[in-house]
Amino acid sequence: MDYDPFSDAAMRDPHAQYLELRKKSGPYFIEKYNAWALVHFDDIWKVSVEHEADMTFTAGQPLTNVLLNEPVPHAFPSMDLSEHRKWRRIVHADYTKSNVESDRPRIEALARELLAPLVERGRFDFYTDYVNRLFAINAGHNLGLGRDESIEWRRLIDETMHRETGQVGTSSPRNHAAAMALFGQLHAYVEGLRRNPERAGGHIRKYLEAEVDGRRLENQDIVSLLVIFLTVGSGTTPNVCAGAVYYLAQHPDQQQAVLGDRSLTPRAFFEAARYDQPTNILCRRAIRDIPVGGETIRAGQNILMVYASGNRDEAEFERAGEFDIFRSCPRDLTYGIGGHKCLGMHLATMAGTIALDEFFRISGRYRVDSANCTRAYGEFLSGFDHVPVELGA
Ligand code: HEM
Repeated sequence: MDYDPFSDAAMRDPHAQYLELRKKSGPYFIEKYNAWALVHFDDIWKVSVEHEADMTFTAGQPLTNVLLNEPVPHAFPSMDLSEHRKWRRIVHADYTKSNVESDRPRIEALARELLAPLVERGRFDFYTDYVNRLFAINAGHNLGLGRDESIEWRRLIDETMHRETGQVGTSSPRNHAAAMALFGQLHAYVEGLRRNPERAGGHIRKYLEAEVDGRRLENQDIVSLLVIFLTVGSGTTPNVCAGAVYYLAQHPDQQQAVLGDRSLTPRAFFEAARYDQPTNILCRRAIRDIPVGGETIRAGQNILMVYASGNRDEAEFERAGEFDIFRSCPRDLTYGIGGHKCLGMHLATMAGTIALDEFFRISGRYRVDSANCTRAYGEFLSGFDHVPVELGA
């Protein structure tokens, strides 16, 4: 089979292709991009654990950077470990389990507030009307932003990631216009805070003061942090929640179990994240030869960590292609592995579980209008972005 992560089929829903790719052992070579796609759980795991120092992150992590050579932002996800450590240190404390836990009551209250008018309506879009707003507002709050600007900047980020059918990379006028608007507004915002630092709220206060190697962060560095946290802070967890609601509705026995015993909600969240991993593919570039699955990735070649495939690998998970909240997973790839493991994993787990739990608290046996559900279209993020629901009795 001829696999291309930018093909229309892959951007629509890559799972059928991943199933085919996993039938052959070892990684799959994509000549066009001089890239190896690691589609098996064990290959991704081993390369991450044993060969992290044999790869560079400086070519970027999204496919658009590594395969298409689009410009790489100067930000810690795209740094190698020695440099990465100095920058990740600035943001680390805000995302520890205990710091995130202290925000639980605020996030619960926000979820209830957003759900209240939706309950009145009885029918709404679980993704657009609820979780997308919840996570945009929360990511913005953490950065000291108001609700309107959080939602507007989230919308612009979505626009930069919008893909026309078969579009390769961020080449459309729509992407460019959104990027210009977003970066223009963020730069103006950071410049304003430099002039009036007392107006800075949330984590951004720390960024204004932070130093690396004795030098203050530049405005551009702070803008990059804002883009990262607005994007990943609000762009993955809602897809997992929407997936959980969708897949539970497809499995009425599991839906009934969760609604009857909400201590199962975290299981629903984790299984949706495994089964429909939102961070579909993240990349690296080899700087030394790496043996994997009977092949050798040569220095200079690109590597695709196809997390969404690894998390459905039959060699790792029994009945991997079935959604089953009762499964136990000794290992998973949901939050990645190694030095670049997800910084926001405690936040994602806690806030995702809250979002679902608050919904289940009021939903009754809800129905999903599956004919009108849609998935995000593109090479980067995967998962549902429209899930119309009707609340039950
Ligand atoms: C269910 C939701 C989420 C999933 C499945 C997820 C998954 C991942 C994965 C797989 C990586 C590793 C990237 C790699 O290997 O190259 C990662 C990195 C990262 N995630 Fe998440 N993530 C989620 C939510 C969040 C949230 C809410 C935040 C908010 C702070 C966040 C912030 C980050 C950051 C900053 C990195 C880069 C870390 C680094 O390079 O040091 N993520 N995430």
